[in-house]
Amino acid sequence: MLDESIQELASRSLARIAAAATPEALEAVRVDAVGRKGVLAEISKGMGKLSPEERKRIGQVLNAAKQQLEAALDARKQEFDAFALRARLDAEWLDLTLPAPGPRRGHLHPITRIQRELEDLFVSLGFTVLDGPEVETEYYNFDALNIPPDHPARDMQDTFWLDGGNLLRTHTSPVQVRGMERLGPPLRMIAPGRVFRNESVDASHEHTFYQLEGMMIDRDVSVAHLLYFMKTLLTAIFQREVTVRLRPGYFPFVEPGFELDIQCLICGGPGCPVCKHSGWVELLPCGLVNPNVLRTSGIDPEEWGGFAFGLGLTRLVMMRYEIDDIRHLHGGDLRFLEQF
Ligand code: DAH
Repeated sequence: MLDESIQELASRSLARIAAAATPEALEAVRVDAVGRKGVLAEISKGMGKLSPEERKRIGQVLNAAKQQLEAALDARKQEFDAFALRARLDAEWLDLTLPAPGPRRGHLHPITRIQRELEDLFVSLGFTVLDGPEVETEYYNFDALNIPPDHPARDMQDTFWLDGGNLLRTHTSPVQVRGMERLGPPLRMIAPGRVFRNESVDASHEHTFYQLEGMMIDRDVSVAHLLYFMKTLLTAIFQREVTVRLRPGYFPFVEPGFELDIQCLICGGPGCPVCKHSGWVELLPCGLVNPNVLRTSGIDPEEWGGFAFGLGLTRLVMMRYEIDDIRHLHGGDLRFLEQF
């Protein structure tokens, strides 16, 4: 009778061991079955009432059942351990023969991108790309461009002056002068680069921004040539035909000087907030090179003439990508930069 219930308890525990799905469940079975307060322990506590022979026999039956259960518990535990080990090895598995994933690639800043596009375009039109210093002399930034010290045009550009009379260039035009001096006519050059103005910063003004200066010197260069190159330039940038108009504009280094406007690309003419309801956006100051500037750089204005233009690269990027605040461009915020 007692034998049978021990057998039955043992086989019920064996079934629970086999069914335990987790190490925790198995531990619960162990406590119930062979723990100090488990079912087998309860039975052995009651053995004091038995006769010595019975006690001996039941003791053996109990021991055998206990050993059987402990063996089953151990075996099941080893299964769990093996399974956990395999899972860990699977997770740690590494194929050392695979190629390395490589660094995450960034991309070019939108200003650099436009700059490179324009360089490619102008190189294809026979232009040379020139670089010039960001710290300039007063001579190249002003005097050689027909802006003498007392000229009111100096006030048009708020200048960062440096010790010793040098300055941070306020435009890329000084590279024209360096190009004319070094290469002489005929000349086709562009000079993209960073320029600096001592301005208070707001949504449309930065102390540091980018321009692209261009110049062509040859015989018989006219406003028609200027217009042709400017339209080619703008069509390439905006990837569609743009309508332009010339207005007179004053810059000491060109004569005549112009402001080249493009018909607003947002509204196409009727007027909208972007073009301040005029239908036109001012984009490209330009003109025919002033004879004084040619002469200063050692070029005879009787024989040679040319056009020049100063494109605002930063402004262009803002128009092309519809960026409404210039401060985003150099704010270094990856959420902004990763959009391009
Ligand atoms: N350097 C002028 C500026 O930054 C822009 C400019 C105007 C450049 C007319 C030119 C030009 O070459 O012809 O304000």
